[in-house]
Amino acid sequence: MTAFAARIERVEPSATLAISSVAKELRAEGADVVDLSVGEPDFPTPAPIVEAGIAAMRDGHTGYTAPRGIPSLREAIATELATDGLAYDPDQIIVTPGGKQALYEVFQTVVDDGDEVVLLDPAWVSYEAMAKLAGGTLRRVDLTTSNFKLEPALDELTTAISDETRLLVVNTPSNPTGMVYTDDALAAVRDLAVDHDVTVISDEIYKRITYGRTPASLATLDGMADRTITVNGFSKTYAMTGWRLGYLAGPTDIIDQAAKLQSHSVSCATNFVQHAGVAALTDVDDEVDEMVTAFEDRRDHLIDRLEDAGAHVPAVPDGAFYLMVPVVGDDLETCETAIQEAHVATTPGSAFGAPGYARLSYANSTDRIDEALDRLFDLEYFRRD
Ligand SMILES: Cc1ncc(COP(=O)(O)O)c(C=O)c1O
Repeated sequence: MTAFAARIERVEPSATLAISSVAKELRAEGADVVDLSVGEPDFPTPAPIVEAGIAAMRDGHTGYTAPRGIPSLREAIATELATDGLAYDPDQIIVTPGGKQALYEVFQTVVDDGDEVVLLDPAWVSYEAMAKLAGGTLRRVDLTTSNFKLEPALDELTTAISDETRLLVVNTPSNPTGMVYTDDALAAVRDLAVDHDVTVISDEIYKRITYGRTPASLATLDGMADRTITVNGFSKTYAMTGWRLGYLAGPTDIIDQAAKLQSHSVSCATNFVQHAGVAALTDVDDEVDEMVTAFEDRRDHLIDRLEDAGAHVPAVPDGAFYLMVPVVGDDLETCETAIQEAHVATTPGSAFGAPGYARLSYANSTDRIDEALDRLFDLEYFRRD
């Protein structure tokens, strides 16, 4: 028997990816599966990005780049961040193969064995795994009782954060709830982080996908620039999930340490993909606006249909493309029944630290959302008011 490292035994495979592979298997067997489990836009990557990637390949941009990324992309990222009031020098940015790798590098750089990591639940699945891989211990603040809002849960957050806290992860708009936290809530986060000298990850991967309310960037708040690592990626905003492109931006000392990990692991993000990333940041504003408008229409449609049917919708999300809903019975069993019997893939809330709920992704056409809902209503899947 092979013995495995304790760090890898501490984590489970990604629950969200597991559900979509069941969906893919059923589809391969000929089933008409509606997939509301995936965290990826159903749109193709906008043409100017594809063209820039092809042109870069043809122009010979196929070798390694500097570990931190090509200068033109780091400059374009710094310019983009400046529009949000974030003053990062290109030297404070590392371009990574996906936002996930950026987050992984931050956890590995900041969290040591036994360090405490605070998550706001429901939280995106991989934060827990990354904390555990780094040897961290978790403190979880439950936002389900406040219908996913942060402000009513600030007392709980105040109790959770102490001088023992090494890292706090804030993700707004949130996956899986779609919540955009208020300025007041983020100001309270700032006070706690400064008082207890906590490092904060601000995962802003859904920041451009909002419907009327945009969250503040934590690093713009007083006292936060030198303790915040801002993480972002191209997957969601630009429909570039398979290209694998993201970045982290932060204080020079953290970035210099994380750069060592990047150079000894992935070396760099793919060269021509980085060139396509420049086009994403400079050339496709209209295409992004169209996708965001489509997501907003689908959100409204999904919520109208759920409310018409008497299903309980705890909160209307202001961003991302997910809705968390309470389900009948045990969420793991209910989601399993939904995929096996109704061929509708949804993600159990337990994967995000929210048992009793499920996450529906509305990155799908309204026709397919309707089809999924018809099948789920027949199953008695949703909890009612
Ligand atoms: C909250 C959040 N952060 C980061 C990521 C990482 O995305 P990627 O690695 O595709 O950039 C995801 C993807 O699902 C996410 O939902």
